[in-house]
Amino acid sequence: MSQLEELQRRHAQIREGGGQARIDQQHAKGKMTARERLAALLDAGTFQELQPFTLDQPADADAIPGDGVVTGFGHIDGRPVCVYAQDFTVYGGSVSLTHARKITQLQDLALRNGIPLIGLLDSGGARIQGGVTSLHGYGEIFHGNVLASGVIPQIAVMMGPCAGGASYSPALMDFIIMVDKTSSMYITGPDVLKSVTGESIDHERLGGARVHAAISGVAHFIAEDEELALHTVRRLLSYLPSNNVENPPLLPPTDDAARTDVALNTLIPNDPNVPYDMHVVLNSVVDRGSFFEVHQTWAQNAIVGFARLDGQPVGIVAQQPMVMAGAIDINAADKIARFVCFCDAFNLPVLTFVDSPGFLPGAAQEHGGIIRHGAKIIYAYVEASVPKISVVTRKGYGGAYIVMGSKSLGADLHLAWPAAEIAVLGPEAAVNVLYRRELAAEADPTALRAALIADYRATHATPYYAAERGILDNVIEPAQTRPTLIAALRFLREQTRHRPAKKHGVMPV
Ligand code: HXC
Repeated sequence: MSQLEELQRRHAQIREGGGQARIDQQHAKGKMTARERLAALLDAGTFQELQPFTLDQPADADAIPGDGVVTGFGHIDGRPVCVYAQDFTVYGGSVSLTHARKITQLQDLALRNGIPLIGLLDSGGARIQGGVTSLHGYGEIFHGNVLASGVIPQIAVMMGPCAGGASYSPALMDFIIMVDKTSSMYITGPDVLKSVTGESIDHERLGGARVHAAISGVAHFIAEDEELALHTVRRLLSYLPSNNVENPPLLPPTDDAARTDVALNTLIPNDPNVPYDMHVVLNSVVDRGSFFEVHQTWAQNAIVGFARLDGQPVGIVAQQPMVMAGAIDINAADKIARFVCFCDAFNLPVLTFVDSPGFLPGAAQEHGGIIRHGAKIIYAYVEASVPKISVVTRKGYGGAYIVMGSKSLGADLHLAWPAAEIAVLGPEAAVNVLYRRELAAEADPTALRAALIADYRATHATPYYAAERGILDNVIEPAQTRPTLIAALRFLREQTRHRPAKKHGVMPV
């Protein structure tokens, strides 16, 4: 056999992975193979594979080249990315030390060159036959994930059953995309659970995509199928710089920077207890069609996502009055804090739209540590040195006003709409505290209470109380929000800020 024929024979063996029967099983489950996924993700013909010949050591006669993971680099929309795809047809995509080191070498390459890292995961977790060496390999992957955190974007796509370490590595990355029905994530699978606790639950209900996208918040995106999951990666990257020293990609504007929207002037209902959809505000203000929501089905009382304003990528944080009146609970606090922290790491300005009656009261929230979780929002906003602009559209009461990127937390620009109600407490609660004795003295306090509430609303629950004291920078016509924000972003884009030197703070996790 000539040298070239030997090379071709070996390449054919590599392409075959775990064999045609296992490839057929993969397809029967509605799953692509690792190489098909790479072809679907990357710009055509750009993939360069690394270390395809590796064999788990000591290699036996049945060892399969590549050891269950395809690693390499390619392009997405013309920009370089490093990517690995686990091959479920080879030992169930399980991670040996060899498999792990292919991934860690790719992490090093991505980190050294400032290139995003994408993992396409489909794995039974630590390879059982490898014993502690497999665990050691996972430890090395986790180490690489943490060193890369905040330096390059890291995106995990869950495309099969991802058990144990196969869940922890994505949890250390920035975004997790799960494919509905075919992917699952758990630390302990259904079989082990049954034997340890007796609990009987299937993969889907224990750790399926819908569970993690709506209940646990582990997944940031859910996709109907693999193609859509890979499309989500491409769209996500379009908002992100390749690393922490680059700015996010500025695209040619697709929308009129001077566009106003008079519909916003009448969006806020007269009755403060009637909700409206904050998505209407967001979609009106940002470049048309550019809002890309993260964590869409988890903690829906808060909204976070990426968008563009005049072609400039930004991070958006908002309350949703349609869900729990926009109150901040533990999950919303975690959702907001993590997103602001990510935006700061990757130089995305943060635009905040506030309409919240406050933190959610109740023993369940207090006992769950709402103080600790709420503190994360404050920490993230203060720590963020990117441009920060906040707009109070309606309610900004108490802690909810302060934590949502207020001026005291370092907002560069703090604006309000005329309907804004900014005060320590809502009118009803404030009147009950301030005039308890007077109200108790009345046989029927209804009329007095109504008059006191109206007075409080007129004097305290307006944006002008704050604006007259310089705590708000301006009260703007809602229709003018888009041009106002675009002008501010143009001004703030070039700023840099210096922070006190420290190793790092201690985030209240
Ligand atoms: C070695 C494995 C494997 C593993 C699967 N395989 N998981 N081989 N180590 N961890 C192999 C199977 O033996 C099988 O080989 C092939 O992959 C396909 O697996 P199936 O079970 O046939 O597939 P399926 O029915 O789809 O079930 C997939 C699965 C299940 C849910 C992932 O295989 C499973 O429960 N595996 C074990 C999961 C687990 O407990 N892993 C360890 C987690 S602990 P053949 O030759 O028959 O095709 C961990 C430690 C790190 O990861 C912790 C860090 C904090």
